[in-house]
Amino acid sequence: MWGPEGLDEVEAELLGPPEELKGRDVLELGAGAAQCSRWLAAQGARPVALDISHRQLQHALRIGGAFPLVCADAGVLPFADASFDLACSAYGALPFVADPRLVLREVHRVLRPGGRLVFSVTHPIRWAFPDEPGPEGLSVSGSYFDRTPYVEQDDTGHAVYVEHHRTLGDRVRDVVSSGFRLVDLVEPEWPSWNTTEWGGWSPLRGSLIPGTAIFVCVRD
Ligand SMILES: C[S@@+](CC[C@H](N)C(=O)[O-])C[C@H]1O[C@@H](n2cnc3c(N)ncnc32)[C@H](O)[C@@H]1O
Repeated sequence: MWGPEGLDEVEAELLGPPEELKGRDVLELGAGAAQCSRWLAAQGARPVALDISHRQLQHALRIGGAFPLVCADAGVLPFADASFDLACSAYGALPFVADPRLVLREVHRVLRPGGRLVFSVTHPIRWAFPDEPGPEGLSVSGSYFDRTPYVEQDDTGHAVYVEHHRTLGDRVRDVVSSGFRLVDLVEPEWPSWNTTEWGGWSPLRGSLIPGTAIFVCVRD
């Protein structure tokens, strides 16, 4: 699943036709509980699920799956050059690092020539709107160009959640300057069957402004 709209890889085929996933080495970045790797393994691919959070990987382990789980920072990948055919990420790692180019360069290094990276992030336009599902989430409340990160702190002042904003242009430049060719930028529309309201995600907002941006990149 690429995002809260509900676009899944069976429908999108952004990693290529599902029948061609068989036997492919796939790196999932910011895997969380490794839902994507579990699906990839079911297609006959050979996924590796990577996340910086040991706790998330414990969830992945509990749910199960016959593929490796790796606890590491996506900006310092513990793999040899040209180890993977594909890399993917659904809202993993990239929105949470100050310099996503470090991650993208690492992914470029570990992909084989011709390899593909597909990653989804919150659509940058959402940064300018309050994260509310109702009409209050439809009026611009901040600058789209303000790159100051969103930070939540605990009682002692330690950052416990940080999200970094990149404009659409920033993201395109990050991808291209890291050596990738951008072949598609998918903005899934909110489908009529999806009636779920979750956080700032809702059919109302989804029908008016994009929520997810999916970048399809090739390592030539
Ligand atoms: C919003 S969750 C997405 C999880 C999963 N991809 C999904 O679709 O449910 C983001 C994940 O990225 C991981 N993450 C954040 N920064 C990371 C980093 N620098 N390296 C690797 N993983 C990271 C978090 O631990 C978290 O599991």
